[in-house]
Amino acid sequence: ESVDLGPYQHYMQKEIFEQPRAIGDTLANISSFGPELFHADVSEWNQFDQILILACGTSYYSACVAKYWLEDIAGIPTQVEVASEYRYRTSVPNVKTLIVVVSQSGETADTLAALRHAKALGHSYTLSICNVGSSAMVRETKWSFLTKAGTEIGVASTKAFTTQLVALYLLAVSLSKRAGRMTPESEKQLLRELRHLPKALHAVLALEPQIIAWSNAFVKCENALFLGRGMHYPIALEGALKLKEISYIHAEAYPAGELKHGPLALVTEKMPVVTVAPKDELLEKLKSNMQEVKARGGKLYVFADQDTDIVSDEGIHVIRLPEHYGNLSPILHVVPLQLLAYHTACMLGTDVDKPRNLAKSVTVE
Ligand code: G6P
Repeated sequence: ESVDLGPYQHYMQKEIFEQPRAIGDTLANISSFGPELFHADVSEWNQFDQILILACGTSYYSACVAKYWLEDIAGIPTQVEVASEYRYRTSVPNVKTLIVVVSQSGETADTLAALRHAKALGHSYTLSICNVGSSAMVRETKWSFLTKAGTEIGVASTKAFTTQLVALYLLAVSLSKRAGRMTPESEKQLLRELRHLPKALHAVLALEPQIIAWSNAFVKCENALFLGRGMHYPIALEGALKLKEISYIHAEAYPAGELKHGPLALVTEKMPVVTVAPKDELLEKLKSNMQEVKARGGKLYVFADQDTDIVSDEGIHVIRLPEHYGNLSPILHVVPLQLLAYHTACMLGTDVDKPRNLAKSVTVE
């Protein structure tokens, strides 16, 4: 842990603010999409027709976002499974599946065992998305993509998560190209959007003072609910995980459409409800979910986009992200949730970089 903290109080804060650099580095030298990004052989690259992603913890949530991208952008059937479940259940292998393991460390025991299990079942197309090039997962998969987050010290993963999302997005657009869904113009446009990410992230990080103000309310809470829809539902899950990991506040995430099937019973004026509300095709549906919360006295904390008509009012607080980012939106919308968890934990005085009972890398079962 000799990495210099610089102006930051904790490694987690430093790592949150390093995300523009980490994503810029992960994208460096990429000028087109395709199998070469994953060190894959073209003839084999054309063989698989479905995907199974295996991961744990925060890496599992990046995989959950990727399922939306892979099915929507590339049209390839995709499943995501928690590694510790997959390795111990009877599954029906289809050898035309690409097995993807996602892991910051590349050493997580459950994910590694799940990879070995998949190979024992006859799967030969295997890809690792890892932050450590010398790791067991990179060695044991046929193909690999290395994220360039740099050493991550904070137990609660931040820059590793967003760089995993970038890698998984590159997989989705590369498979979209394989499917003949991309023109040279659309490829150039997607590259421009990706290269804009570091700048867009800086603008989101500049929201920190507003988020610190919200943290003052969260320190008084025992519970919090996080809502999202579509590809932002896993972002709500990740926001809830960050809050519980480092602040020890009980937090749960739901896809907003499920509110009426249970969690609405928990909503009172004591329940903050964090809502991830980008300006996408699900926004109108989400607004009616927010109305259900408001009608029960719940306090809404909404992360919206710039050109939205959601405004702060009695019982509803709104922070606007500076742009709408289209398919890349999950990479931006997770950042304020990281900051909210971080500042809430700081105010509560927890050991932010080393939360109780948790380890950075779980290399035993
Ligand atoms: C531990 C860490 C988490 C991490 C998970 C998976 O639980 O505390 O932050 O997301 O392991 O780790 P990996 O290295 O496989 O991404």
